Parts: sequence; C-alpha cells; structure tokens
Amino acid sequence: MEDLETLVERAGREFDQACDTPALENAKARYLGKGGALTALLKSLGRLPAEERKSAGQAINAAKARLEQALEARRAALAEAALNDRLAEEALDVTLPGRGRGGGGLHPMMRTWQRVEQIFRTVGFDVADGPEIETDWYNFTALNNPENHPARSMQDTFYVDLKDAQGLNLLLRTHTSPMQVRYARMHPPPIKVIAPGRTYRVDSDATHSPMFHQVEGLWIDEDISFADLKGVYTDFLHRFFETDALEVRFRPSFFPFTEPSAEIDMMFDSGPLKGRWLEISGSGQVHPNVVRNFGLDPERYIGFAFGSGLERLTMLRYGIDDLRLFFDGDLRFLRQFA
Ligand code: FA5
Ligand code: MG
Repeated sequence: MEDLETLVERAGREFDQACDTPALENAKARYLGKGGALTALLKSLGRLPAEERKSAGQAINAAKARLEQALEARRAALAEAALNDRLAEEALDVTLPGRGRGGGGLHPMMRTWQRVEQIFRTVGFDVADGPEIETDWYNFTALNNPENHPARSMQDTFYVDLKDAQGLNLLLRTHTSPMQVRYARMHPPPIKVIAPGRTYRVDSDATHSPMFHQVEGLWIDEDISFADLKGVYTDFLHRFFETDALEVRFRPSFFPFTEPSAEIDMMFDSGPLKGRWLEISGSGQVHPNVVRNFGLDPERYIGFAFGSGLERLTMLRYGIDDLRLFFDGDLRFLRQFA
C-alpha cells in the first residue's frame, strides 16, 4: 500500500508545519476527521475483496496509530512552546535594581506649625482655626482699629470685591488677630488658645512675603499679666529652639488692640545672618475695648495676646536668611528638611 505510506508522510509533514493549535486541528481534520483522507480509506475497505480486507485494515489502522502518535507529539510540542513563550513574556528579572520610592517630607513651615501646636497644647492651650477671607470688622474694627484710623495702613492688604451676608466688606486677613474675637465670643473665660494659619499682606522682600503664616495666642482670665506673657512666651521659645541660651528682647511698640504693646525680637545664632536681630512677634496686654468686643467686662477680665510669624521662627531655627526660599519649591532647599 504505497499511497498509504505517502499519506502518512504528508500528514506528518502537515502536522509538523502547523504552527499553532487551530492549524494543527485543521490538519487533523483533513486526515482523521469524519471526511478525512484516512477515514475515507477505512470506509473503502468494504469494497475490497474479502482476502485483502484484513491486511489492508491492519495497514490502515497501523497508519492511523502513527498519525495519532504524530498528532499527540505535535500537540505536546505546541503546548510546550506556548508555555515557554508565556514564561518568557512574564519573566521577572529579579536582579534588576528596585525603582525606589521618592521619599516625601514635611515642608519646613509645616514642621514649625506642628511643633508650635504641640508645645502650646502641652501647657493647656486650645488650637483654633478660622477664615482666611475675613470681614474688615473682625480684622480691624473689632480690634480697636476703626475705619479711617491710620493704624490700618500698617497692614495693607488685598480687598475682595464681595460683601458677606451682613453686607460687611471682605478682605484677606492681614493677621490671625481676628481669631481672638471670633474665639472669645464663642468660649467663656478662662480663654487659652492659639490660632495658627495663613495671612496676607502687600509685602515682599527677604523677610516679608505676600502670603505668610502667623500663630495667634490669647490668654484671658481675671489676673493674667504682662509678666505671664513674658514667662509663657520665653518658655515657648526655649522649647521651640531646644535651648535656654537665646537672645530675646521685648521692644516697646504700638498696636491698637494691645496696651502696653511689645514686639519680640530674637537674634540669629547661625547662618548668614548670625548676630542679627529678627522680629518674630507682636504682643501685649489686650486693650479694654477689645475685651469689650469679646463680650466680656474689661474691669474683670484681662490677659495677653501675641501674633508670631511662623516663617520667622523657621528662619531662626534653621539659620535661613531669605524667607522666599520657603515658597520657591526648589527641591535642593526642601530636601534638606526631609
Ligand atoms: C501683627 O500682625 C499683630 N497682629 C501681632 C499681635 C497680635 C500684636 C496680638 C499684639 C497682640 P505684626 O504686623 O508685627 O503684628 O506681625 C506679627 C509678625 O508676623 C511679625 O513679627 C512677623 O514675624 C510676621 N510677619 C508680618 N508680616 C510678615 C510678612 N509679610 N511675611 C512674613 N512674616 C510676616
Ligand atoms: Mg511688627
């Protein structure tokens, strides 16, 4: 049976040439399927004379067995190749160096903010928060700074072209002092609070930025004196700078909302400005008119307030000579604090 032999060879070649499973299954159908070449031969057995039928049947069955073997072998080879492809595709090179994660860090201003809160909390101060868009009543008038008073020009600011629900003028707050009035009107004495936050002025140089941060402090009770202000504030500075060896001075000054008033200055002990004074805070005994605006009797309640620049404290802590560095977003600067 010569053509059986050629048929087996041809089928074997086609199986080997099938480069994927569908192609192989098509080739299988051409030989072993219902209408396949080998199946047709089997069907034709009936037409052979009886004496040839047996040997022809055996030959065809042997050929079928070889084809099935070749088919199985090719199926296994294709499966293995597919598996190898997948393995190669999904391979991980465990020897590659890691991608690394960009390590973030707190901005130096936020470090100061958190540190200030932490220190004042430990001595019993509440921490409050208030609006950055403020009415000029809270920002100035309630702080004994009436409309058209020249002291308003000490703090030039950004006015907003809108009015609040009561028709009051709005502005970006120039200091955190409006929080004194807001907080005191909502909390009965004794009042002991700090209010850190953003503030705005038309200012710009190495120690002034148009947006900056202050922390307001207020302690009102029946017998809180200027001596308490000095004690509390000096103690805060010792803890903030982690040393008692600080050069600090209370310099007489004027604010409409305190009497007497003092600016607090501190000397740089490192960095390019070493030996130079820097103002860090305004402070004083709260003016009786302001205590009245708290809704309290100034004959009974008295205390101190301060408003400190968080940028200034940060500059002194790290020996930085220009506060604009805080807002440039330069990673070479910021990374030093991460
Ligand atoms: C005030 O703002 C008063 N409200 C402080 C105060 C509060 C006095 C309570 C009495 C009682 P002054 O304008 O001096 O005061 O600002 C306070 C501090 O904010 C300054 O000492 C300085 O540290 C900081 N500061 C002021 N303007 C800027 C600015 N443009 N950029 C960065 N820091 C500033
Ligand atoms: Mg000042």
